[in-house]
Amino acid sequence: MNENKTNINWYPGHMAKTRREIEQDLKLIDVVIELLDARIPLSSRNPEIKKITNNKKKIIILNKSDMADEEMTKKWVAFLSKEAKVLVTDANTGKGIDKVSKAIDEIMKDEVEKQRARGIKNKTIRVMILGIPNVGKSSFINRISKKSALVVGNRPGVTRQKQWIRIGNNQELLDTPGVLWPKFESNEVALNLAFTGSIKDDLLEIVEIAYEFLKVNFEKHKENFINRYNLTPDELNDVENDSNKFYAIMKLIGRKRGALVKGNEIDDEKTARLILDDFRSTKLGRITLEEPK
Ligand code: G4P
Repeated sequence: MNENKTNINWYPGHMAKTRREIEQDLKLIDVVIELLDARIPLSSRNPEIKKITNNKKKIIILNKSDMADEEMTKKWVAFLSKEAKVLVTDANTGKGIDKVSKAIDEIMKDEVEKQRARGIKNKTIRVMILGIPNVGKSSFINRISKKSALVVGNRPGVTRQKQWIRIGNNQELLDTPGVLWPKFESNEVALNLAFTGSIKDDLLEIVEIAYEFLKVNFEKHKENFINRYNLTPDELNDVENDSNKFYAIMKLIGRKRGALVKGNEIDDEKTARLILDDFRSTKLGRITLEEPK
């Protein structure tokens, strides 16, 4: 799992292999759960998910909802509901996860009835989680397995068997998620993945990322910044008149938070990290970065 966290390592050969493996697993699967980051429902989507999952029944889950703006999440649910059943979860606390099993039953209802008419009773519904790195797939699976008592299909042996976690009446979830590659289709998408920490910071110019973060979000969420860093009207006025406004804001935040190097210079890197950490830990408030279009 960990190797997949470095999104930037995705290259065509890797993608082809991943895709083949997932397509192999999907043969066993009735329902696909596509896990997305509620703060970036578009950017956290694999570009080829539709092709890969083809005609499978699907549930979309907006995870990390605790970090996203609640009103925006409602808009996203409405928007994505045109395409599939949508649920909202927080895999850290488990909020919303109790609705998953019922949703699976609902979308499989017709299918199960058809089977029953043919004499097949209590067919096991098999489920798999798919998503790009860092959307919370492992946390989700951990949570849902804690709720369920039984892990089935685990046989000791040299080759690792597929394990299925019972998640409801006649429902089993594959214990390993399908890890898809993220899309780098536009600069905006790449930045959203960087802002949320889906691309490891050590692969990026952290100061540049924080600068871009301010550029995109400062005006939109000004109150959040004012509250978090106690920015005064005078200070705001000063940066407004600066020829490099967003860099001036960064310096201001660095100064206010005491992110300094020797000689009282502001440490850009420290400041950048601090701003991004504040966003990622919701100390800047619950911010959704994308709106449904
Ligand atoms: P993955 O399998 O899809 O790669 O994701 P994973 O479960 O490892 O989760 C990635 C990080 O996101 C973890 O943080 C995890 O705790 C956090 N996370 C997952 N779901 C939620 C959620 O619903 N709400 C919140 N607030 N956080 C969630 P981490 O262990 O700190 O890892 P990292 O941040 O160092 O990557």
